[in-house]
Amino acid sequence: MTSLIDQFRRPLRDLRISVTDRCNFRCSYCMPADVFHDEFKFLHHDQILRYEEITRLARIAVGLGVVKLRITGGEPLVRRDLDQLIAQLTSISGVEDIAMTTNGFLLEKMAQPLKDAGLARVTISLDSLDNDVFRRMNGDKADVAPVLAGIRAAEQAGLTPIKVNAVVQRGVNDHTMVDLARFCKDNGYVLRFIEFMDVGTRNGWKLDQVVPAKEIIERIDAALPLERVEGNYYGEVAERHRYRDGGGEIGVIASVTQPFCGTCTRLRLSADGRIYTCLFALRGTSLRDPMRAGATDDELATLFAGVWSKRKDRYSEIRTEETAANKKIEMNYIGG
Ligand code: GTP
Ligand code: 5AD
Ligand code: SF4
Ligand code: SF4
Repeated sequence: MTSLIDQFRRPLRDLRISVTDRCNFRCSYCMPADVFHDEFKFLHHDQILRYEEITRLARIAVGLGVVKLRITGGEPLVRRDLDQLIAQLTSISGVEDIAMTTNGFLLEKMAQPLKDAGLARVTISLDSLDNDVFRRMNGDKADVAPVLAGIRAAEQAGLTPIKVNAVVQRGVNDHTMVDLARFCKDNGYVLRFIEFMDVGTRNGWKLDQVVPAKEIIERIDAALPLERVEGNYYGEVAERHRYRDGGGEIGVIASVTQPFCGTCTRLRLSADGRIYTCLFALRGTSLRDPMRAGATDDELATLFAGVWSKRKDRYSEIRTEETAANKKIEMNYIGG
């Protein structure tokens, strides 16, 4: 198969599938509670792709070169019977990796069924071990304890290596970074700190709340000495470091201060069946509508390929006042 490349010669390798725009948390940097309130109009049931539809699109994408699938949301585990989707996706031949990003709240019960269905590993979002800080960041929706129970269940089910993602906001949770690093190190989890990004238009992003990855690493290194290691694969978003005492590794995702668009191989499928070529895209292309109107697999493949081959996005590299002010897609709609 000749591989599909975009305008900057980047191959299509990953499909990130958002299965719902809903979430049981209200993280201020993602779905602030004053915007995503009780009356907020989430996607209607009919607008959302059924599992069979997701699987069909994923199979077509795999035919075009995708080898890695990631399930995201919103919060994927608020969608019922997610293990059934995983079972369908794992039946697609050519998929090398299938992972899920979750807030962990509902993971304790679901970890084993997901593993049994073929999920390889999970990444859990956990911004702080300090319960007050955590609650403040998630819109007062959840304590740390159920998330830790979810992480332990995932570990026991073998959804490994376990990764933990923490978004860092200056003055909000940066004083708890070292504690979280120590906890993950002691338990063998790969922690990645993420720079607070200007995704969507509603999270009140300000550059002065971004703690640069370089500073994050310096602050961890001062407590738990680190050394830099090479990346695992082409297009990896995290810069890796390992503990000098041999106690595992940690990463930083520097989407603001050191953007990685040059090797971005990710395509995103929203819960309502649109494909987006960038996390910061202004619009997507619906595959649901042609699919429901009777398009064949070949026709859908042509649509996928057309979108990818025209792709020119490199938002994080060219972030400007003008693009930042534009109406971007919200994170809960296409996942992290
Ligand atoms: P692995 O497959 O485990 O290596 O996962 P990953 O490194 O791709 O990380 P993950 O999918 O957990 O993404 C972590 C975070 O990185 C996301 O929640 C986003 O905040 C950020 N991120 C991931 N992909 C992109 C991207 O394409 N652009 C930007 N700007 N940020 C991204
Ligand atoms: N900045 C950085 N990462 C974000 N995420 C959501 N919103 C943001 C943001 N503004 C990521 C987090 C979370 C995942 C679901 O999406 O990593 O864990
Ligand atoms: Fe939900 Fe994750 Fe967004 Fe938080 S970051 S509101 S847990 S989707
Ligand atoms: Fe890819 Fe867009 Fe993120 Fe750049 S900003 S790495 S192009 S998703």
